[in-house]
Amino acid sequence: MVKVATRGKTAAATRSQKSTATEIFITLRIVMNAKSTKNPLILGIESSCDDTSAAVLRGRRLLSNVIASQQVHVKYGGVIPELASRAHQQNIVPVVDAALREAGIGMGELDAIAFTRGPGLLGSLLVGVSFAKGLSLAHGVPLVEVNHLEGHILSHFIETSGDEDHPDFPFLCLLVSGGHSQIVLVRSPLDMEIIGTTIDDAAGEAFDKCAKILGLPYPGGPHIDRLAQGGNSHAFDFAQPRVGGFDYSFSGLKTSFLYTVRDMSPGFVADHLADLCASLQRAIVETLLYKLIRAAKELGVSEIAAAGGVSANSGLRDALVAEGARRGWRVYLPPLRFTTDNAAMIAAAGLFAFEAGRRSTLDAVPVTRLAK
Ligand code: KG4
Ligand code: ZN
Repeated sequence: MVKVATRGKTAAATRSQKSTATEIFITLRIVMNAKSTKNPLILGIESSCDDTSAAVLRGRRLLSNVIASQQVHVKYGGVIPELASRAHQQNIVPVVDAALREAGIGMGELDAIAFTRGPGLLGSLLVGVSFAKGLSLAHGVPLVEVNHLEGHILSHFIETSGDEDHPDFPFLCLLVSGGHSQIVLVRSPLDMEIIGTTIDDAAGEAFDKCAKILGLPYPGGPHIDRLAQGGNSHAFDFAQPRVGGFDYSFSGLKTSFLYTVRDMSPGFVADHLADLCASLQRAIVETLLYKLIRAAKELGVSEIAAAGGVSANSGLRDALVAEGARRGWRVYLPPLRFTTDNAAMIAAAGLFAFEAGRRSTLDAVPVTRLAK
């Protein structure tokens, strides 16, 4: 039996009763609105870094995916967390509204709201998490939290035409983004194990920091990719540190690049820009592939996928296809629009969690780092 003190209540007790009442209210709304559908309608909300995005999926089929990329950071050469969270606050309402309108879906029709709980920047995550909670409360729609990195991996299951080829389980995913470089063994959508990770910089960070050394705009990865296409990838040899197990390290490569460029005259750098980019890209791609090949061999897995912003890199995509042909892998590359941050992947991860019966409560708080 629950005893409720009517006199001398503490502030904490009052708060906890209010939050229990809110939970009961929301649960009632959810039960009343509950729909039994084979293809649930999921709204995804992503705000972990500098892209505000919302998407709607019906089952795995994508109905809309709206992304507002923040330009405010370009002049600073990197993401400024405070500016990012302010821009999310400005963007979130119009972006969610546009995603629902484009999908032709009303809030009341949704089966769940999937949101990125982390990892990411705290102020950025807070905007998406709070907005998702507000929508859930107002419309009685269940909440499902998503790990941003799992979202990148599960972007492989988004369907746009319906004839996409998805990886079979178990598969290995090379997850390469601005903040992470991991090899993940994916046994099922809800059972993933990180078997290798970077011990310092991520691959995307290596691209971005080296691009900055060359005076290229942020984010530098796509600029290096474009310039590399006209360069000689064997013009320079940069250090490719190899650390233990399936882990990665990119800080030595970055330092080796910095020292090489520092000792060149500005004119020489300008004349050899394409060669520098192509050689850097080769070093990053070779480093990534070396461990991936070892992991695939040791684990006996030949279903290989790539995900995350760096999986847009043409050198990496070509190398994965070539390596796959040599080794009998089946290689899965995400469509370019699902490589960088987007809410479609959050909705996809949310769909699997929703179907498995997972739900989040209004107590969910953003987490900047996640254990897995
Ligand atoms: O996954 P993402 O959008 O954000 C994070 O979750 O971090 O990845 C962003 C990263 C940036 O470092 C960006 O430079 C890199 O992906 N990137 C690329 C390319 N497109 C984006 N790096 C190399 N080549 C590209 N074409
Ligand atoms: Zn990301």
